[in-house]
Amino acid sequence: MSQDDLKRKAAEAAIDYVKGGIIGVGTGSTVNHFIDLLAEVRHRIDGTVSSSEASTERLQSHGIRVLDLNATGELDLYIDGADESNAYLHLIKGGGGALTREKIIAGASRQFVCIADDSKLVDVLGGFPLPVEVIPMARSHVARQLVKLGGTPVWREKFITDNGNIILDVHNLRIMEPAKLEQEINNIAGVVTTGLFALRPADILILGSEGGIRTIDPRF
Ligand code: 5RP
Repeated sequence: MSQDDLKRKAAEAAIDYVKGGIIGVGTGSTVNHFIDLLAEVRHRIDGTVSSSEASTERLQSHGIRVLDLNATGELDLYIDGADESNAYLHLIKGGGGALTREKIIAGASRQFVCIADDSKLVDVLGGFPLPVEVIPMARSHVARQLVKLGGTPVWREKFITDNGNIILDVHNLRIMEPAKLEQEINNIAGVVTTGLFALRPADILILGSEGGIRTIDPRF
């Protein structure tokens, strides 16, 4: 089975969590499968809040309503992918560059269900370069601070986020204390968001694997 087939399996399993109300929708190839499947049950929901222009376009192409988070209040459910997860469901996200809106919606949702193929589950976060969204004028300053934290930042050239900012991808990190590092990066002036999701991790991780679906819920 291809990696894309495994992503689709995870997306199919996430549809069971869609009971009604307004659904937060992430960004990426796994979420694209989820959006396509959500179209089939769109009568169940009142609408969505989207984390990127790309997801908004896909949702609307299926006739699914996209609402402004300011108009919805807290959401019951957020579905999104990840670039890496550890066993505590601390995540690295932002490979697609949508990390800021993703983190906002995750923070505004009571339940965050993460969907991925099983290659995304790792022992220690950091093999995937950590995306950091930065105000353009602060690029060099933030890069120097990230070096002090032990990383090797690389400017994602020719890429501008939906918020008009740039991304630094931080290589060579072995993230032993995700929440601490998330706070340290958040404290650098000029950082908009780090792609580390440890202060608000996922609640449930659904992994598509050759053997079927594996669900990780750290409460059990
Ligand atoms: C986008 C993200 C995605 O969730 C992450 O990059 C995973 O993408 P994919 O589902 O394509 O593997 O954080 O900003």
